[in-house]
Amino acid sequence: MSHFDAIVLGAGAAGLMCAMAAGQRGRRVLLLDHADAPGAKILISGGGRCNFTNTGTEPARFFSANPQFARSALSRYTAGDFIALVEKHHIAYHEKTLGQLFCDGSARAIVDMLLAECEAAGVDLRLRHRVVDVSRADDFRVETDRGAFTAPALVLATGGLSIPKMGATGLSLDIARRFGLPVVEPRPGLVPLTFGEEALALMRPISGVSLPVEARAGGSTFREAMLFTHRGLSGPAILQVSTPWRPGGAVTVDLLPDVDALAWLRARRDERPRAALHTVLAEKLPQRLAAALSTVRLAEHTRPVGELGNKALGAVAAMLKSMALTPAGTEGYAKAEVMAGGVDTAALSSRTMAAKEVPGLHVVGEAVDVTGWLGGYNFQWAWASGWCAGLSV
Ligand code: FDA
Repeated sequence: MSHFDAIVLGAGAAGLMCAMAAGQRGRRVLLLDHADAPGAKILISGGGRCNFTNTGTEPARFFSANPQFARSALSRYTAGDFIALVEKHHIAYHEKTLGQLFCDGSARAIVDMLLAECEAAGVDLRLRHRVVDVSRADDFRVETDRGAFTAPALVLATGGLSIPKMGATGLSLDIARRFGLPVVEPRPGLVPLTFGEEALALMRPISGVSLPVEARAGGSTFREAMLFTHRGLSGPAILQVSTPWRPGGAVTVDLLPDVDALAWLRARRDERPRAALHTVLAEKLPQRLAAALSTVRLAEHTRPVGELGNKALGAVAAMLKSMALTPAGTEGYAKAEVMAGGVDTAALSSRTMAAKEVPGLHVVGEAVDVTGWLGGYNFQWAWASGWCAGLSV
């Protein structure tokens, strides 16, 4: 058979969900993927345990040129809906932190669950199909290296550009552009930041050191752990701010988010006047960081704190509370957990993910300009947008 009611391109998180929902409505669905196996990113997600949703899902946890766009889909298919599906399949899970739900066992259980649902819904899953061309006469026609398929509805669900060595491609963006849909310039998101030599003089020697911080960039603030690396900065706080960060902009880090640094330093000056600055800093910061800051960033103040005047203490406190760092770039799609940007939401219905000007064409998941925070939000977007398209095709 080569004619279907709907063709879904990409058997990842959003494509599996979309095919399942459409199949359950009695639609004849073809789910096509070029990979050897479906759901590859689900399998590696969350360190192999898949952080499959977040109980705190709300539109404010997503970046998009139109932050309100995600509201409709997220309310039509909620974290609770996905949790109910997980429970129906007796998959054990737990909350790790901040509403993040992970499987107790392997992420494989989530892929198996979606495959079982798709099979029950009669979805025709075909792997190892390379898409050669997509065109449209009355129906969409998808030509692959293993035959051509037609359908009145086409769903673009091939995800984003992150991790190209896993087979990520820009196919959905290419097809969307060909049908005239605008695309918000894609860029790596949830990605470590890299720095030039000057900043690396501080960071490289303390690679591996991590501490809780408040990091700010592009108008967003995240309070989580930050990690120094050989190439710059990583850890959840940095991955989070990497998405709103734009080249040329600064990342500002509060190294002592719960501390009035000036009041604390003044008190320590009174109590331990003979202690070196780095010794005092090490009371609240990792020792290696305190030592590195004292020699690299605070060299002119490296003396007993009792000898530091109010102006000097103020400068130290200001540096600790808002260390401004300008990244040279990011570690790119090779290390990015997601692609930010994507098909412009202005061209899509927020209720059905259908292209407003191209009847039958839908875009779901990471290919859309909706990018979640770290913590299960990107899967919830994939499930929700896939579900809504599945109810529409
Ligand atoms: P997804 O990438 O899942 O699927 C796309 C599918 O399209 C794939 O099966 C691919 O083979 C196929 N495809 C691509 N190009 C094609 C082509 N040219 N022809 C045919 N098929 C093609 N999110 C989260 O919420 N919690 C988490 O724990 C994690 N963890 C995580 C870890 C790592 C290492 C990464 C890289 C990413 C995450 N994510 C995550 C993000 C999450 O994996 C991602 O947002 C979703 O998988 C996106 O779902 P999609 O269905 O849009 O794309």
